[in-house]
Amino acid sequence: MELIEAITGRKSIRAFKPDPVPKEKVEEILKVAINAPSAINLQPWDIYVVMGEERQRLSRRLIKSYREKKISCSPGNVKPLDEKLSARGAQSFRLMNPYLEEMNEEFNRFINEGSCNFYGAPVAIILCLDKAFSKARYVDIGILLGFIVLTAYGLGLGSCPIGLISAYEEDIKDVLDIPENKEVVIGIAMGYPDEKSPVNRFKSPREGIEAFVRWID
Ligand SMILES: Cc1cc2nc3c(=O)[nH]c(=O)nc-3n(C[C@H](O)[C@H](O)[C@H](O)COP(=O)(O)O)c2cc1C
Repeated sequence: MELIEAITGRKSIRAFKPDPVPKEKVEEILKVAINAPSAINLQPWDIYVVMGEERQRLSRRLIKSYREKKISCSPGNVKPLDEKLSARGAQSFRLMNPYLEEMNEEFNRFINEGSCNFYGAPVAIILCLDKAFSKARYVDIGILLGFIVLTAYGLGLGSCPIGLISAYEEDIKDVLDIPENKEVVIGIAMGYPDEKSPVNRFKSPREGIEAFVRWID
């Protein structure tokens, strides 16, 4: 697949076929994706790939914890968002909701419990960073995330980044036996897209670059 086509064609997938993904396929994706750049080539990531019964066990724990603590998907801002950003958040809800209504799904439940369940994907990937690193190294994890979702798409798999799960870090570390000195940064749901699910018809729009770019020349 051509690179530009991959970048513009990828989108988050939120319904998956139950079909298992061969371990070799995930391995192939990760072997490509770890070509991502990182500062001083430190490759500071730890990558946990969770499949099969362990994947189900992880979701059961996350959903239970979500129902107890009710920490939801949110922008995670520490100061109020300006009008433009708030409007984008509202737009995300407005544009996706009709697809969920078609599925008789309530938005918050679908997104929050769905995220905890990796949207039923057979593969969950958890990206961790050693706590010895500074916050600047989150950038490296972010780039790896980008490379993983693009590579997965290029090789015929769908994916969705799952940031919500970092709110349930202690549960994840407990279930997966992740050492205390590692921080859970982000998860990824991965599998074969369920083409029949209405939510997978949704493609989020982007602003024109004039909304972000200031030319200084
Ligand atoms: C860091 C990060 C965290 C995200 N966390 C979640 C999440 O917890 N649940 C979810 O459904 N989508 C999550 N997403 C997916 C975004 O909602 C999605 O990327 C965005 O709406 C743009 O849509 P697209 O990926 O289809 O282009 C996350 C994306 C990123 C980059």
